[in-house]
Amino acid sequence: MTQFICSPGGRVNGSIRVPGDKSISHRSIILSSIAEGTSHISGFLQGEDSLNTIRAFQQMGVSIERDQDQVRVYGVGLHGLDKPGSDLDMGNSGTAMRLLLGLLAGQAFDSRLIGDSSLSTRPMRRVIDPLQSMGATIASQPGGRAPLQIKASSGLKAIEYDMPVASAQVKSCLLLAGLYASGETVVREPAPTRDHSERMLRGFGCEVLTNESEIRLKGNQVLTARDIEVPADISSAAFLMVAASIAADSEITLRHVGVNPTRTGVIDILKLMGADIELLNQRDIGGEPVADISVRSAELSGIDIPSHLVPLAIDEFPVLFIAAACADGTTRLSGAEELRVKESDRIQVMADGLTVLGVDAQSRDDGIVIQGGQLGGGEIESHGDHRIAMAFSIASLRATTEICINECANVNTSFPGFVELAHQAGIRIMVNAG
Ligand code: S3P
Repeated sequence: MTQFICSPGGRVNGSIRVPGDKSISHRSIILSSIAEGTSHISGFLQGEDSLNTIRAFQQMGVSIERDQDQVRVYGVGLHGLDKPGSDLDMGNSGTAMRLLLGLLAGQAFDSRLIGDSSLSTRPMRRVIDPLQSMGATIASQPGGRAPLQIKASSGLKAIEYDMPVASAQVKSCLLLAGLYASGETVVREPAPTRDHSERMLRGFGCEVLTNESEIRLKGNQVLTARDIEVPADISSAAFLMVAASIAADSEITLRHVGVNPTRTGVIDILKLMGADIELLNQRDIGGEPVADISVRSAELSGIDIPSHLVPLAIDEFPVLFIAAACADGTTRLSGAEELRVKESDRIQVMADGLTVLGVDAQSRDDGIVIQGGQLGGGEIESHGDHRIAMAFSIASLRATTEICINECANVNTSFPGFVELAHQAGIRIMVNAG
C-alpha cells in the first residue's frame, strides 16, 4: 500500500508545468483513432487513465506509437476498428469507460468493458439508458454497473436527449454514439459542462452545432487527422494553486495551463475566497485557451459557493475543501451530489479526513459545510482516490503535525510525478511504498 507521509509547514515557490490534461488526452486518442490519416499528439498525459485508453484502441487494431508525452496515432477511419481479442480494461477511469461505451455501442462487433473495484461501483445507467434508446444492446451488472457487455450494432438511430445530470461524460458518450447514428443527435445539458469533445470534433473537421444548452451532431461524418497539443491540466494545477494560496510567503507560476471557460470554476471560486491569482500570456492553442497562472499567498475567507460554478469545478472540490478549511469563516457547498459518485464518495471521504485533522466539516446529501480553523495532523484514508490523496498532501502546508495518507498509488492515474513536482515546489512528501 502506497502511503504519503507529509511534513507540516513549508512555502511554495517556482515555475512549474504540470502534466497534460486528462480529459483532452482521452479525447485525443479516441478521435484520432477513428480519423482518416495520422495524428500527432504532444503533451499527452502519461497517467494510468489515459494510457488505458491507448491500450484499448491498440486492442482494436489501431497502431499507436508513444515516446513519453509524444504520441502518433494511425487513424483507421470511422468504420475501421477491429473486434478486440479480450476485455477492454478502463482501470480507474470513468471518463474512458463512458466515452468508449458510446463509441462501442455503434460498432459492428461485440465488446466488453471492465474496470477496477472503484469503477465497478460507479453508475453507468446514465449512459446505458440513452444509448439503448438509440438502439444499442448493452448488458450490465445489477444496478447498471460494470462490467458492461456491448452487442454488435446493426445501426444506431439519433435521439434528442435532455440530460438529467450536468455531465460532460454523458454528453460526450452520446456525441460519439451519434457519429454512428442515422440522423442528427441532439443533447441538451441542464448546465454548461466541459466542451472539449465539441471543440476537438470541430478540429477534426466535424460539424457540431451548439446553441446555448443544446449540442447537435449529424451521423457518419468523416474525421480528418490533425495535430493536437494537450495543455497542462487545470485539475492538476489546482493543487498547486491552493498550495500557494494557503502557504505563507509563497508565489508560484503554473505554465501552459488549459483555461477553457468550462473548466475554470476553481479559479473563480478561489478568487471569491480572496485568492491572489492572475492569468498571464493568454493564448489559443489548437482551439483550446491556454494561460500561465500566477498565484501568491492570500488570506482566504469562507464563502457560499455559487451553484453555477459547481459543474465547472467538479474535480477540484477535494482541494477546494482544503482551501475552505484554511479560510477564515464558513464555506458552504450545495448542489454537488455528483461528488458522491466520483472515484470515491468525495463528500464523505473529505468530511472524514478533515475531521481527523480537527476541522469542523459537516457533510450534507448534496454538499458540505466547512468551518475554517487550525489543521492538526493524523492518518487519512484516501480510499484509493487520487484527488483525495493529493488534496490532503496540500493540507500539510498548514498542519501542525505530520499527515499520513493511505492508498495513494492511484495518484498516477492523473498526476504522474506529483510527489517530485510537489517537492520541487516546496511540499515535503515522503513515499512509503509499503
Ligand atoms: C470528465 C467529466 C467530468 C469529470 C471527469 C472528466 C470528462 O465528469 O468529473 O473527471 O473528461 O468528460 P462528469 O462530466 O460526469 O461530471
